[in-house]
Amino acid sequence: MTRRVVRARAHGKVNVFLGVGEARSDGFHDLSTVFQAVSLHDDLAVEAVPARRVVRGPHVRGVRVTGLDAHKVPTDSTNLAVRAVEAVVGRYRRRHGLGWAPAFYLHLHKGIPTAGGMAGGSADAAAALRATAEILAAEYSEYPVLTGEELHEIAAELGSDVPFTLMGGTAWGRGRGEDLTPVLSAGRYHWVFALSPRGLSTPEVFAALDELRYARPERRPRMDVDAINAALATGDPLAVGVHMHNDLEAAALSLMPGLRVAHGAAVELGAVRCVVSGSGPTLAFLCRDEESAAAVAEELVGQNLASRAVVAHGPMPGARVVG
Ligand code: C5P
Repeated sequence: MTRRVVRARAHGKVNVFLGVGEARSDGFHDLSTVFQAVSLHDDLAVEAVPARRVVRGPHVRGVRVTGLDAHKVPTDSTNLAVRAVEAVVGRYRRRHGLGWAPAFYLHLHKGIPTAGGMAGGSADAAAALRATAEILAAEYSEYPVLTGEELHEIAAELGSDVPFTLMGGTAWGRGRGEDLTPVLSAGRYHWVFALSPRGLSTPEVFAALDELRYARPERRPRMDVDAINAALATGDPLAVGVHMHNDLEAAALSLMPGLRVAHGAAVELGAVRCVVSGSGPTLAFLCRDEESAAAVAEELVGQNLASRAVVAHGPMPGARVVG
């Protein structure tokens, strides 16, 4: 083997619709969500260095993180990209009885906010799955490559949003979010994301929703995606805006009440609609077009409603090797 570097790119997501069912016995909640991959993305370079001897312990020997929120991203074995590389290599070694495998070094360049409800960590895992599968396919060309189904299976084990970031586009997710069906989305949607300096913990937001529902049982889950899917097929942001929804929103806003000001100003700022993105705290403003998105981003920062606002568009493809 020679030293090999494979680069992969994966995009963040917004939940155009997020319905959350009751808590399950395994600690997760059944979802009915419509994801859209957006242009904010992370780039991952995976370097594989030959190691022709029995490898014990971790295969990933080094991780470097640069870009947005880099200081918030772990560089140890809890990093989802690291876990993804280990999962793929581990499966490959077990299946083919390989005594050795390359050592891996990762360089992650972040463009997706961390702990922002935009699947940043999941995107890194998806990019790592693609890059590692590519390296192993080239290195061990005598063995069958991992199938798309196997990658999806590993993705679902790594996290609820990893299968979607692997697939991309616009899709309806059920189960924990891993049971995916593509959704027809016409045209391009323009978004502004208002970033928060602090993140929110996904389990804490789900737990806050359980509490809100316990206190107010009339808060019923909204799981029907027919209206939002019909709207997405029209390509009309005004139609989509009417049906955007997030069951986690009240929980995220209760944990970070300061978000309410920017959220409530959406229409006044010129946006069609605002929802909390996933479990938050990123706010997603759907806009009429590119110009309107640029103006909304400028106003958000100009009026001190957000410390940072970035424009993006969707849908975008799933994680892929780029060189
Ligand atoms: O799967 P992931 O690691 O992204 O999930 C993080 C946490 O978010 C879970 O441990 C769980 O508390 C919560 N969660 C949930 N229901 C889902 C997805 C996530 O309760 N469908």
